Order: sequence, then C-alpha cells, then structure tokens
Amino acid sequence: MPSLSFAHDATQQGDRFPVARFIDELKRTHSCGALRAANIGEEVVLFGWVQYYRDFGGLRFIDLRDRDGITQVVFSPEVAPEAHALADQMRTEWVVGVRGVVRDRGMQHSKKTGQMVSAHNPNLATGEVEVLVHECVVFNRSETPPFEVEDQTDTNEEKRLQYRYLDLRRPKMFKIFQTRSKMNQVTRQVLSSNGFLELETPVLVKYTPGGARNFLVPSRLHHGKFYALAESPQLFKQLYMVAGFERYFQITKCFRDEDLRLDRQPEFTQIDVEMSFVNQDDIFAMIEKLVFALWKECLGTDLTERYPEGRFPRMRFDESMTRFGNDKPDLRFGLEHTDLTGLVIEHDGGGVPMLKEIADGFANGTDRRDHPRRIVKALVIPASSQLSRAEADKLEEYVKGMGAKGLARAKVADDGTWTQSPLAKSASPAFRDAVNAATGAKPGDLLIFQFGTASMVHTVMANLRLHLGRKLGLIPEYGTKGDWRFLWVVDPPLFEYDEKENRWAAAHHAFTRPHDECVQYLETDPAKVLCYRYDLVLNGFEVGGGSVRLHDPDVQAKVFRALGISDEDAKAKFGFLLEALRFGAPPHGGIALGMDRLVMLLSSAESIRDVVAWPKTQKGTDLMTDAPNAVAPEQLAELRVRVVTAE
Ligand code: AMO
Repeated sequence: MPSLSFAHDATQQGDRFPVARFIDELKRTHSCGALRAANIGEEVVLFGWVQYYRDFGGLRFIDLRDRDGITQVVFSPEVAPEAHALADQMRTEWVVGVRGVVRDRGMQHSKKTGQMVSAHNPNLATGEVEVLVHECVVFNRSETPPFEVEDQTDTNEEKRLQYRYLDLRRPKMFKIFQTRSKMNQVTRQVLSSNGFLELETPVLVKYTPGGARNFLVPSRLHHGKFYALAESPQLFKQLYMVAGFERYFQITKCFRDEDLRLDRQPEFTQIDVEMSFVNQDDIFAMIEKLVFALWKECLGTDLTERYPEGRFPRMRFDESMTRFGNDKPDLRFGLEHTDLTGLVIEHDGGGVPMLKEIADGFANGTDRRDHPRRIVKALVIPASSQLSRAEADKLEEYVKGMGAKGLARAKVADDGTWTQSPLAKSASPAFRDAVNAATGAKPGDLLIFQFGTASMVHTVMANLRLHLGRKLGLIPEYGTKGDWRFLWVVDPPLFEYDEKENRWAAAHHAFTRPHDECVQYLETDPAKVLCYRYDLVLNGFEVGGGSVRLHDPDVQAKVFRALGISDEDAKAKFGFLLEALRFGAPPHGGIALGMDRLVMLLSSAESIRDVVAWPKTQKGTDLMTDAPNAVAPEQLAELRVRVVTAE
C-alpha cells in the first residue's frame, strides 16, 4: 500500500469521496482491540470513536474506541501534517478512520521520578502498541455528548436511558450484550442438537383470563374487539404438542402489563420449551443440560464443581415457604425462618394475648393445621452480627413499609430469658424456652417475630431475611461473586384459597397436572392437591417456571369443577385448547426460562434494565422515544376508540 500523508474531513465539502476512500478502498484491517506487539511494523486501518484526546510533546494522541477495545493512535506534524491538523479538531465521540503503522509505545519521561520509563499501558489489551497515523478521515462529528462514554459513570439512569445509544457505547454494556448474544447461540445449539424445533407462535392472540395481565390491541377491522399481546406462547406451544411436533423451543418476546420491578419488564424474553412424552425429571434434565452449557460457554464456569451429578437440588414448595417465606429462596446464606404456629397452639398462645387469639382460631376450628390462614414465624439474628438497638428499631420501620403492624422482638439473656421486649413479661417460661429451643436462639441473639395472615407473615419475613442478608454483608447488594445456588422448587399446591372471593383458585393456570394420588381430593379437599409445577430459582430469583400439563380431559373437567368454572364458562374461555385436548393430545410439559433475568445474573448487572437494550422505566415509559404517547384523533376514530380523561 502506498504511504500517503493525507487527511479527509467527510463533513466538509473539500474532498470528493473521503468516506469511499476508507470504506471502499482501504477497508478496516483490525478492530480497536486487536493489535499486539506481534503486529509491530504492519500497516493497519482502524475505524472508531474518539474516546480521549491529548497533546504531548508536539504530538496529538487519540484513544480510538470500537466495540472491541481501545487503541492509542498518534498524529505527528512531521509525519503527516494534514492528518495532524485534522486530528487537532477532533473531539470526543467523533467517528473517524485512520491508516498508519503499528509501533511499540516505547519509553516516556516519568513526571514522578524524572526517569525514562516504559510507556506500555498494562491495563489495556493493546497497551504495548500505538498506531502512527499517515492518513485519516472524519466520518462524522459529534455534538458534545450529554455524558462521557465511560464504564464508571455517575450519570443518572434517566439521562442514560434518554441517550441509550450512547450508554450502550460503554464497554461494560457491550460486554453484557455480547453475553446475551452468546446465550442465544448456545441455547439454539444445545436445543437444536437435542431434537428441538425452533418454531414461532403468534403475538396477537385471543385474550384468555388468568395469568398475567395482558396488553390489549384494538382491532381496526372488528370494531369493539381486541387482540391481546401474548403474555407467553403457552397455549400455542401445547397445541404444537397436540400437532405432534414433540420438541419445541423459541426465544421469544412476551408482554405483560404488570407493575414493574428490578427484575420485571413489560416486554421480556423467554427461552420457551415444550416436550412430549416426558415427565418432570426429563424436563429438568434437559434444562440442566442447557443451563450448564450456558454457564460454561458464556462465563467459563463449570457448574459440575458444585453440582457433580449435573443435577440441581430440589425443594418442596411447602418446605421453601416454611424455611424462607417464599418459593424462590436465596440459598447463599442462612437466617432461616422457624414456623412457631404449632408451638403457639400447643402452648395455647404461651401467655401472649395476640398469640392466644391465633391459638383460639385453631381450637375453635376457624383455622386448619394443614392449611393455616394465620401463622407465627420467628427468625434469629445472631449476636455476632452486633445489630444495635437503633438498627433493630429501623427493621421495624422497614417491615411497616410492607404493611406489617409491627415487629415483635426479644433479646435472649444469658439465662435464656427475654429482655428488651414487651413479650418478656407476658410469655410463659415454658413457651419462651420452647421458642429458644425451636429457633436455636442463644444468649445475645435477637429473636424477631411476625404473626398474622400467612401471606403477610411469609412476605414480610422473606423480605426481612433478604434485607438482613444484605445489611449484614452475607450477600452482596447485587451480583454473585461467582456463588451460584440453583434450586428446583417443586410440588406446589394446585389451588390457593382466594380470601377475598372466598373460593379456591388455580395457583397458576388450570392446565397443570395434579399428582395422580391427589386426583381423589380434587372435589373433596382441594387444599391437599399437589401438582407438577416447578420453578427454577437462582440466588433468590425465579429464572424459570413450567409444569407438566393436564392432557386428560376427564381430570381437566374435575379441576374446572373444583375451581367453580362451569362447562360453558370453560368453553368460552379456553374452548380451543379443550377441544384440541380431545383429539389425541400426548402427555406433555415444558418450561420457560427468563432470558433477561439469566443475563442479569450472569453479568452481575444491577437491574434487568441494564441487560435489555431498549428498556422501559419503572413507570413503563421509553425515555428515548417518549412512548407511550397520545395519537391523533383520526387514528382513534378509525379504531372506534374514545379516550376518557378523568374529570
Ligand atoms: P412464567 O410466568 O413463570 O411461566 O414465566 C417464565 C419466566 O419468565 C420470567 N419472567 C419475566 N422476566 C422479566 N420480566 C417479566 N415481567 C417476567 N415475567 C416472567 C421469569 C419466569 O420464571 N408459560 C409459562 C411457562 C410454562 O409453563 O412453560 C410462563 O410463562 O424468569
């Protein structure tokens, strides 16, 4: 290649085809992360964005950045005066091309010691070399960016989301999306090589009740009628099984109009899987294979070190609720709950009036031991955590924020008695000793109690456990530090009691297969019916959920009866699926993994928004495009939709 000393500014009128010279003729030879000492002496062409610029010793230095890394490029007025003059104008985030020769960074004068020292930068993959520029082009200038494109940023999230394309230029973000892309590839590779077909399902679907709340889409052709955006491909993937496709997967968007949280987006991605002629074990084995491969390929982590059999542990749903208060326990630390309901009943409230009320409920039959409405739980904060009284007071404020009335607590004295507690006076010694024994509380420990409706007690104590885990440094604020604790939560009840409606409702959806031995209780005692539903949990996050489906129309009819759904009702709501099940549906089951949550955990991101390229805020808005927005009255008229604004 002839060594021209030449510079072009494509944004100016002077040169005729400066972009073509670089894009068509010269072509990029390397990425900005590629050059090493072995390339010294080579002529190269790099394209990228100006990260930093500085002048030193009559030379201009520019750090050129692309998605792969950063390379230092040097402009010398002696070597290439035009290029040097153009580089002098370059500012951050201008997009430029350079042609030059790779050389060793050599030595530089140390300001600290006054000695000559190596100019190599050990923190940069390309840190041994630089490119001495002979020719350059400005592809495009940039306005001064609203924030610097750097990994360490204190720019607030709103600003970053408004200029998301700049935010995504940060190397940290690029790494996340590189991981995400790799996860897609690995998923396709693993599932395809195990006989799965990658198939699509509709996004515009019929609204079906149950499950998450749907977004509705008005139909222009059928006034007054609506499509729903699919909250998951659930029913269609089952229909693929009825159609005989046997193994389906799809990496697909799902839409749910729910309140958003740290790990929830209104549109998110599932790795959706369905299999025929399988039981729960078969589905677990397949998903374990996939997850092991994802960790190995995307993170270089061999999960067999922790799980040598290649299988994840399992825990029954009720055990998880008892020990952790929820069905997605974070197993990285202790602080487990102790359910004291049985003790309270045995001790007839143990002298504590509020506990007596609960014990009475069981005595007079308004509450049931096998399915209690009200419960009592405790958690021990060990003396070693040295929680001050003021900090313990703050815990009370924290639980009140969740709707708890308060947080009873007691400090265990050397002789096992309780101090610093209103319970100290009322609790009978026998009850107190029994509680100490059941919880394993030792002198100096702090006992925390919560009693009331089961759902409230579980929720408050589950959140409190996590709050304490972080506060006491047992788990990091976010991220994993390489500690991966997977768990299958299995055998949940098929129904849950709806206190408001005073009836049984499907805990998830009405198409989950009950355990065979529980079918006999479907109509007599629904509380006893367990089912083949399961969640995959990782470090306290639900990363997947699925079930073995009900393919038998007779059992299906019984489930509907138990739920109080009439035949007509069932037909109106799920007619197409019920009909399909009557045409030779194979036994089948499946699962969906939450792709975004997996990426979030794999890349130790702070929130799901960091791993979704174009996310919505907590309020469901897109700050970059300003969605949702109002539309023209004519558009609404066409749809026969009228907007009613509150008075
Ligand atoms: P489920 O509703 O449990 O099951 O969803 C599967 C997984 O998807 C992820 N997930 C979400 N991720 C981000 N934002 C959200 N709003 C969100 N909602 C769910 C979770 C969850 O475990 N059709 C069934 C699957 C099946 O039965 O096969 C389903 O959708 O990680």
